[in-house]
Amino acid sequence: MAKRASGGHGRQQAAKRSSTGRSRTKRPVRKRSAGLRSKPAPKRAARRKPATSKSAKKKLAARAAAARGTRKQRVSKPSRLASAAATVRGAVAGAVVTVTKRLPWSSNGQDAITLLENDHRRFEALLGQGDETTERAVKGRTEVLDTLTAELNLHELVEEKILYPALKAHPEARDIVLEGYQEHHIADVLAGELHRLPPGDEQWGAKFKVLKESLEHHIKEEEHEMFLKARGIFSRDELLRLGVEMAEMKKRSRA
Ligand SMILES: [Fe+2]
Ligand SMILES: [Fe+2]
Repeated sequence: MAKRASGGHGRQQAAKRSSTGRSRTKRPVRKRSAGLRSKPAPKRAARRKPATSKSAKKKLAARAAAARGTRKQRVSKPSRLASAAATVRGAVAGAVVTVTKRLPWSSNGQDAITLLENDHRRFEALLGQGDETTERAVKGRTEVLDTLTAELNLHELVEEKILYPALKAHPEARDIVLEGYQEHHIADVLAGELHRLPPGDEQWGAKFKVLKESLEHHIKEEEHEMFLKARGIFSRDELLRLGVEMAEMKKRSRA
């Protein structure tokens, strides 16, 4: 009897605790005013996957290896005179190449710098095409971006695997080479973002313009500084050999 009474008392206590517990943990519900109510997220068009080709992966591996090497290496700064001398030697060598190429008996072999400069002219044409498109040119924008990205990946790959490491060993070219890696990275980020943006999006044109300006700046720095130094540092035969290596690497990466 006493047991039943204590059981009943226990149930009452539990009910009391439970009701007290509920009232203690219950949080006041904040009423939102109509003005603060969040709007449903706008529907987005399906995103395209950025191109992750074999050449893009190889290029990223080369860039990571170069960054590791940079952390370990300590190279003394070159004098301004040595740096300027390499540029002047390169300008003279470049003028000789321009004249030699026009001679009827000159070989058809492309040196590394000529090969890269030809790629640059191609990029300028593609960037011009993309810049002229409108939001309605969905197919045209997609094609230009796909072609540009594929060719840019190969170009950056041969620069980062062949030319940049060879040049970086020379103190007078080291800084401009390190800048080159960073400018490639910026171009890759912008191209990746463009691939994820629907071509009809109002941001596409603006982002493509920034990619164009960024690449044009990079091309100018390479041709007006880095390549002149390369022509001043390497002999004609060395540049021809690097050119053959680049052409072969491009061929292998396309296959
Ligand atoms: Fe380049
Ligand atoms: Fe480059």
